[in-house]
Amino acid sequence: MIPPVDPPINPIVRADALAHVSYQRRDPDGMARFLADFGFIPLAPASRGRQYFRGYGRDSYCVEVIAAERDAFVGFALNAHSRDDLHKLARFESRDVAPVDGPGGGERVRLVDPDGNRVDFLWGAEPLPALPARSALSDVNLPNATPRINRPVRSDPAPAPVFRIGHVVLQTQAFPDMMEWYRQRFGFLASDVATIADGIPVLGFFRLDRGDQPADHHSLALLAGPEARMLHVSTETIDLDAVGQGQQHLRAQGWSHHWGIGRHVLGSQIFDYWKDGAGDEWEHYADGDVMTSDYPTGVHPLTRGGLWAWGDDLPDSMRPPGPPPADAPAAVHAMFDALATPPRPWLR
Ligand SMILES: [Fe+2]
Repeated sequence: MIPPVDPPINPIVRADALAHVSYQRRDPDGMARFLADFGFIPLAPASRGRQYFRGYGRDSYCVEVIAAERDAFVGFALNAHSRDDLHKLARFESRDVAPVDGPGGGERVRLVDPDGNRVDFLWGAEPLPALPARSALSDVNLPNATPRINRPVRSDPAPAPVFRIGHVVLQTQAFPDMMEWYRQRFGFLASDVATIADGIPVLGFFRLDRGDQPADHHSLALLAGPEARMLHVSTETIDLDAVGQGQQHLRAQGWSHHWGIGRHVLGSQIFDYWKDGAGDEWEHYADGDVMTSDYPTGVHPLTRGGLWAWGDDLPDSMRPPGPPPADAPAAVHAMFDALATPPRPWLR
């Protein structure tokens, strides 16, 4: 077993940010409609079978959609702190540094993680000017304080302005290998780890090591499961009202709602999950936790109720299918049991 809480002794580099994600789609036009309704903005018409989508933040792009004969998650990209780091990782992996063939340019090192996901490490992409969006509705009337006087809250249903990719969640059969691969190369720190009997980690939330600068509670999460697959991509929007009005817009456009609105426990995000036309999950979130590098790792027993604080119960499709075969390892049975029982029967 890999100790879940020890920080990497000496990672090759410490990545700075999650940059973008990449998908193959049989119906790229349908995917473009979903992404626009979800809150992304197309950068230009598709060219050479590729289309790029930006957020309201400064990333050169957030989503790449590649026209293909099958639907697939291709991978994601992390930003480097420095050009030196880019070359350091390239030397460690005996890989070339290549120009980025996408909006913003820059250079990249292309890796493949133990599960076959493409992981690009980027430096030098030209940032975009941020787009204007409404301010957070921060004046909240409380029982004993009413700062919002003569100013009604009347936001209209509209796509939730998505600012950036917040995190990627991957399911893996090789949890220890994947955890160590990402920690050793990119300096990921474990923010919270959920374990089953004997302290075996099966769910981990990993943040970037940005020293005394805050980092999202997790930019990467890993879940042990029966097969390697991408579980969801999460995006940050403004606040609870943006999540709610974004939900109204997506409902009006006929997209498939999956889970929410609720608030997570580990990471504290207000969340809402949707499915694109190919069935992949996308999360809107607001008000997530951020931590500096010295924040200690939390270790918790895995429970279904520990995944969210309020909102509807976890959909069955968000946990490994089961029950597992009788001869499956005890750890698989323990994990299935931990996620099978609805912790709040009044929700059923
Ligand atoms: Fe998430």
